[in-house]
Amino acid sequence: MTTDVSNLQLRNPWSWYPVVASADLSPGTVLPVVLNGEKLAVWRSSKGKVNAWHDRCPHRGMRLSFGAVNGETLICPYHGWTFGDDARCVRIPAHPNVIPSRAARARLLAVAEVDGHIWICSGEPARSEPDADSAYTPVRTMHLQLSMENAIVAFLTLPCAAGVKVQPPEHIEWSTSNAGAVVARSEALTASFALPSSVFCGATTETGKSTYLIRIQPTDLGGCAVQASMTVGGDAVAFNRALVAFRAEIAQDKIKSWLVSASSKFEAAVPVLVDGLTQGEAP
Ligand code: FES
Repeated sequence: MTTDVSNLQLRNPWSWYPVVASADLSPGTVLPVVLNGEKLAVWRSSKGKVNAWHDRCPHRGMRLSFGAVNGETLICPYHGWTFGDDARCVRIPAHPNVIPSRAARARLLAVAEVDGHIWICSGEPARSEPDADSAYTPVRTMHLQLSMENAIVAFLTLPCAAGVKVQPPEHIEWSTSNAGAVVARSEALTASFALPSSVFCGATTETGKSTYLIRIQPTDLGGCAVQASMTVGGDAVAFNRALVAFRAEIAQDKIKSWLVSASSKFEAAVPVLVDGLTQGEAP
């Protein structure tokens, strides 16, 4: 069956994506983030308010993520224009007595902080808040040189748990749940994928079951970032090690080529997801 995976609309502008763990953005700091190919500056004010703006100063285009947070403002590093948390310029150092024009403002995006992650929606959010799950706690952010689609298939089909070899299974049973999620079952792993980017995994290990949640942030066409969480109370150190090993394994050519064949099975479930998207996700 030939299916265009882009039909999935994995990179849609009305969904929330987690882009950074809350713990990685301290008060008074700014980070660069890429979402769907767009460069963004995500910053936290001294009082803790999180803001997400396009990473471009409205004056001469300097990247605001190179700037500095001062209290509840962000200062551009080039000419020092200072922006309040509503993204409006409040001070121009070269003209301290001039009230900045209302047009002098950065472009802001919808941002939310839920369940230990900072989430961004690049357009008009279909839901006022991201779908969060307090059963899981963030462990780490990890960048992958894989498309978002391939990363989804990797976590759907290959176990990522301490003491479990990352090995393509001989047989995977594919199905869809009533809610429209794609479910992949093999001997070592049962995983389900829900739009727009969440993979819920239960891997069988020697010591029992390891349950984790992977949310994938589309950065650009060639890469993605993973926000990995595990059940509250799990062994975060062991899971962190497993994630690092998983990244190295899936970078191997033999795994990459196996993922291509697994993708065709995943794609076979796309029409169901598209139906689910039309009913539940479209704005
Ligand atoms: S480019 Fe930002 S203040 Fe001039």
